[in-house]
Amino acid sequence: MQRRSFLKASILSGIGFNAASFLHAAERSSWAAGPLVISSANGLRATQKAMELIRSGADALDAVIAGVNIIENDPKDHSVGYGGLPNEEGVVELDSCVMHGPTHNAGSVGALRHIKTPSKVARLVMERTDHELLVGEGALRFAKDHGFKEENLLTDEARKIWLHWKETLSDKDDWFPEDNPDIPKNYKELSKTTGTITCMGIDLNGNISGVTTTSGLAFKIPGRVGDSPIIGAGLYVDNEVGACGSTGRGEENLKNLSCFLVVELMRQGVSPKDACLEAAKRIVKHAKIPSLRRKDGRPNFNVSFYAFNKKGEFGAGTIYGPRKFAVNDGKENKLYTAAYLFKK
Ligand code: GLY
Repeated sequence: MQRRSFLKASILSGIGFNAASFLHAAERSSWAAGPLVISSANGLRATQKAMELIRSGADALDAVIAGVNIIENDPKDHSVGYGGLPNEEGVVELDSCVMHGPTHNAGSVGALRHIKTPSKVARLVMERTDHELLVGEGALRFAKDHGFKEENLLTDEARKIWLHWKETLSDKDDWFPEDNPDIPKNYKELSKTTGTITCMGIDLNGNISGVTTTSGLAFKIPGRVGDSPIIGAGLYVDNEVGACGSTGRGEENLKNLSCFLVVELMRQGVSPKDACLEAAKRIVKHAKIPSLRRKDGRPNFNVSFYAFNKKGEFGAGTIYGPRKFAVNDGKENKLYTAAYLFKK
């Protein structure tokens, strides 16, 4: 038995638990909804993949990570992994966390450079260390120790968008923009992006797990870490209640620990949709500083929540809508419309 497993078993038996039966009991949830996978709008391929794995007997954690790996590896998604928009210096920095319901265990990485799939590294932090969160240089060294290869995550398209941002910051500096036809037409939207993918699933044993992964706020200050790797903010799972994940402006979510709030509201019987809307309302109420408000007093950012409960009921709520989210209930893989507080 490994030293840590031995210590854990000794501690449990020392306080009257039989460690083996405790761990076994933790493997099965006390309820049984059908399999379900939910994700943000960019996650339709993730929900499809995760459900295929769940139906073939996979643990929900394996399934949702495999699902988001598709998006992390996709150079066309500028909010996640490879192809994500970089920080202000043109370097892509990624955040991710995973949470495993049956063991209530979690792992996270923040400001991780050069690794396409931070969700896999977050999982290793959970499974192969005594820690929950590794950041920056330490996270990269840890990933390399586990065999991950360093890669350049800045695609040519993301580099051009970043360069255009840099060249148009000021007309008083030394950088001149070119009239660049390659810049995507939604450049202005992309430059404010806080994309992200979150994906959560219930497996055939009724167990819940989730993952959130992102390249964070575009053109951020190097070292900025958002809500995505923070348990309770970017993701929260309680195997006996349900799960919630989020996308959008991480700073405001961090100040409200909204995913924890959503799961606690569901514990009290609030529906997933209403719990998500309540979290969105709380954020709006707490966004008091002028830099977060438009002229009409409404927030100048968006945050969205996606959740399901132990009965397999699901919903999503966002500050500004309409906005879609992806669900696979084992029969259909499709986009639904989230409830929202304000029309975009
Ligand atoms: N929600 C993603 C971020 O703010 O980094």
